[in-house]
Amino acid sequence: MRSIPDSIVLIGPMGSGKSTVGRCLASLINKDFVDSDEELEERCGADIPWIFDIEGEEGFRKRETSVLDDLSARKNTVIATGGGAILTEENRRILRSAGFVVYLTADLEVLFGRVAKDKSRPLLQVSDPQSSYEEIFKKREPLYRATADLVFVSNEILNPNEVAKKIQARLLEI
Ligand code: S3P
Repeated sequence: MRSIPDSIVLIGPMGSGKSTVGRCLASLINKDFVDSDEELEERCGADIPWIFDIEGEEGFRKRETSVLDDLSARKNTVIATGGGAILTEENRRILRSAGFVVYLTADLEVLFGRVAKDKSRPLLQVSDPQSSYEEIFKKREPLYRATADLVFVSNEILNPNEVAKKIQARLLEI
């Protein structure tokens, strides 16, 4: 790829850094940035744990699809998504139509270590979050791969800016 694609979609599991890296990548390559979870919370006027409490995961997923569909029309934008954005065929089609899809990932222990103590992720507020995380990750991993144009693995301790620079270099290499 001789030039950076118009819009870039970041997918990957919880803790992969989609939002923080996405923000850095957008500013590095002069694109707008949007986070689908933040957009969903703004539209709903409530945060994700509240939405899960009141509407369950099913309600959250419906809202997520609607937001992704709207965001997919954005031009010149880096779009960070939630970890479950790849779960349905419809979402995967939307994500692919939105832009060049980068799957951000790392080893399971690294990923879980980043979110282990987080209270804002409803799917991890269970008695054994580590087992839940592993189960979710294993189920989704083939879906991330099937949706992605590029896989970026980041196990090193890099700051988000450094990761963004490496992704930029990979995009220019393709
Ligand atoms: C989810 C991941 C979260 C958020 C919601 C559900 C998931 O986003 O969308 O809690 O299903 O993996 P992050 O990937 O940014 O944590």
